[in-house]
Amino acid sequence: MFNADKFVDEQIKKIREDVDGKAIIAASGGVDSTVCAALVGKALGERLLAIYVDTGFMRKGETESVDKMLRRLGVNHKVVDASDEYFAALTGVIEPETKRKIIGEKFIRIFEREAKKFGAKYLVQGTIAPDWIESGGGLRDTIKSHHNVGGLPKDMNLKLVEPLRDLYKDEVRKVGRALKIEVAEKQPFPGPALAIRIMGEATKESVAIVREACAIVEEEIEKASASGKMKLPWQYFAVLLPVKSVGVQGDIRAYGYTIAVRAVDSVDAMTAVYSKIPHEIMETISSKITNKMKDKVNRVVYDVTNKPPATIEWE
Ligand code: XMP
Repeated sequence: MFNADKFVDEQIKKIREDVDGKAIIAASGGVDSTVCAALVGKALGERLLAIYVDTGFMRKGETESVDKMLRRLGVNHKVVDASDEYFAALTGVIEPETKRKIIGEKFIRIFEREAKKFGAKYLVQGTIAPDWIESGGGLRDTIKSHHNVGGLPKDMNLKLVEPLRDLYKDEVRKVGRALKIEVAEKQPFPGPALAIRIMGEATKESVAIVREACAIVEEEIEKASASGKMKLPWQYFAVLLPVKSVGVQGDIRAYGYTIAVRAVDSVDAMTAVYSKIPHEIMETISSKITNKMKDKVNRVVYDVTNKPPATIEWE
């Protein structure tokens, strides 16, 4: 049986023993990196600097709310706006693994840059067990390169600290609760962010579409679950497909993009089943998305695939 309080005490002791200088951490605002930042922050205090990189692929209001949260948790942190750099690096990139590798590599370069300024010797990461299991190695097949593993360049000159490496998601949440972090109940969000929810090139325009669609999916599902109409799924979001289809607006022909809605239940992300969302809620989501983005999206579909054979994200 996993004991979160014991884990926290042991890790604080271990981190203090292992880390003899300054460290930086990649804080995305997600469950893993926030729990990790709070844990390592407890061990190192001002010797830790949490870097939040605004890649341009963050969800609606995310940068502001992560900034506020880290402040509240008392974690020494800095927000770096790197969105122009990211859009430039991903111009014309469609292949999912290439996207992930570019995003991962850029993350590390930015951290290296910031680490130098801060005088850090260590890079702390919120990698958890499914990240490295699914990123391949040994006898395992590479399913997808999670950015915090597959994107790591060989010449990285920071020592890696990964205190959550052996934990599964449900255990990370328990550690979060033990550290009194409200984010412990937040749904997971991938490191490469909205860039991997666009099946195609991540441009300012495509990101804006999927950002709005994700915000609607989150808002409607959270509202429906708060009012008892459905159980809150483990993860729920929108994906922008590169497929255009014919629609009609008034009596005028339209030709717009397709949004796929994905909602799943899972315990540890290794397997998942699609959520049986009530049809009336799907209808609300569909109407809101197509109304809000009339000139861009005219079709919404629901993904009814489990993992396996699909994965949770589409890329
Ligand atoms: P998949 O799509 O592999 O996702 O079934 C399993 C869980 O991991 C999240 N995910 C990621 N998390 N870095 C992360 O930290 C990544 O590169 C990444 N890719 C996927 C995904 O949202 C799901 O919860």
